[in-house]
Amino acid sequence: MLVTGKEILDKAHKEGYAVGAFNVNNMEILQAVIAAAEEERSPVIIQTSEGAIKYAGVDYLSALVTLAARKATVPVALHLDHGTSYETIISCIRNGWTSVMYDGSHHSLDQNIAETNEIIKVARAAGVSVEAELGRLGGIEDNISVDEKDARFTHPDEALKFVQQTGVDSLAVAIGTAHGKYKGVPVLDFDRLQEIKNLVNIPIVLHGASGVPEEAIRKACTLGVNKINIDTDVRQAFTDGIKSVFEKTPDEFDPRKICGPAREEMKKVVKGKMKMFGCSGKA
Ligand code: G3H
Ligand code: 13P
Ligand code: ZN
Repeated sequence: MLVTGKEILDKAHKEGYAVGAFNVNNMEILQAVIAAAEEERSPVIIQTSEGAIKYAGVDYLSALVTLAARKATVPVALHLDHGTSYETIISCIRNGWTSVMYDGSHHSLDQNIAETNEIIKVARAAGVSVEAELGRLGGIEDNISVDEKDARFTHPDEALKFVQQTGVDSLAVAIGTAHGKYKGVPVLDFDRLQEIKNLVNIPIVLHGASGVPEEAIRKACTLGVNKINIDTDVRQAFTDGIKSVFEKTPDEFDPRKICGPAREEMKKVVKGKMKMFGCSGKA
């Protein structure tokens, strides 16, 4: 069933686990994620970036995901990942998305608050949930200095001001993760996470979670992360699945025999994440 992001995340916040939010760009990725959620009896967030919408079309993604959600026996939310333009956000709301992220993390705190509030006004009227982001992810080196950490990571006091002045449904924080493949092993600032969670007391979102060691993910879940974004690890499973088909049968040309095994590989990865996040059995 199709539900809002808030419905899924408020339950996770209350019960102390995280729900996987998986980036989807085509039918096979979507089917892999939904099949994993069904087998794990887990709620799930299907998310589409602006790039995914440009690639597949807002109408195609809307039709695919709403069909999948309607058929699913577990709660499914359709979420816009890293929405940066008002136009995309409105278009998603009009096309059936039940949750949107407004990413104003590159703005000053006050501008981020003002723009997030504009989005919240429209989204609330449509019954759509809103995620915002504070702090800057990406390009995290192994030995990041304390000063640099302070410049990029989410400040607990700013997070409190942000949540008090917006009433946003969930908040993405920068605590040491980065998008894409890590060069070294990411080190998460758990003290900062705990302080933010204690102050804001709303669902916290962790971006850039592919490649983060299992132990760190589990700890983040116990400290109040309730939504975990995964893209790279599923992309890798898709590509590995396709590569292994060509290793075994280099002359294969039936797309179903190429994408089918890739879909299975992705499903395995997604199921593993659901077990790790604690959302298996929570549907
Ligand atoms: O955070 C970014 C996501 O991995 C989406 O990536 O913009 O290439 O679709 P994308
Ligand atoms: P990864 O690609 O690092 O898993 O990050 C996904 C993400 O944060 C999407 O918003
Ligand atoms: Zn992200």
